[in-house]
Amino acid sequence: MSANPLPSGLVFLPGHLDTAAQHALLSIVWDRLDAAPFYTPRMPRSGRPMRVQMTNFGPLGWVTDKDGGYRYQETHPETGTRWPAMPQSLLDLWDDATGWPQAPEACLVNHYRQDGRMNLHVDADEDARDAPVLSISLGDPALFRIGGPRRSDPTQSFWLRSGDVVVLGGAARHCYHGVDRVRFGATSLVPGGGRINLTLRRVSR
Ligand code: SIN
Ligand code: FE2
Repeated sequence: MSANPLPSGLVFLPGHLDTAAQHALLSIVWDRLDAAPFYTPRMPRSGRPMRVQMTNFGPLGWVTDKDGGYRYQETHPETGTRWPAMPQSLLDLWDDATGWPQAPEACLVNHYRQDGRMNLHVDADEDARDAPVLSISLGDPALFRIGGPRRSDPTQSFWLRSGDVVVLGGAARHCYHGVDRVRFGATSLVPGGGRINLTLRRVSR
């Protein structure tokens, strides 16, 4: 962790999930993949593929493609069926870690493989932009970067390891963040290797 203070409202809970809880959560995720397989999201306009694969759980899912851009929708873009239910353990974790009175509506599942990364961005497609974002890391470590509300603000980075939980609330909710790289193959939790990041969000006000 660098010497700079992290943005206010960022709560870092290293090792919040123990090994047993990580395995339990990973198997809950894997059980839902038949109903909602990973797909390759594409950037608006350019159609360039993102460097992670995605799926969602819950009443709403975050998707992006060339023509439609960033948005939430009730159905999987490739199968056309509704997303699988939000796991109860994630609803409980949201209550414990955020205390936010409304339930999360979307659990975005990001799958980082060998060259997985995510460019700096602000989560801004929600109407409930004051509700915190809860992020859970499973599997290989990822170098997480966070800056300020402007893209040009200085950033700092730290490693997110399996079982770590991060809450982006308050000012941190509006800060640029991303993932520079993943230490692929460092753990064996995720079948085939890599990292799973679960991002829980409240979407509607
Ligand atoms: C995200 O910002 O959507 C993902 C962050 C992460 O993978 O840790
Ligand atoms: Fe994000």
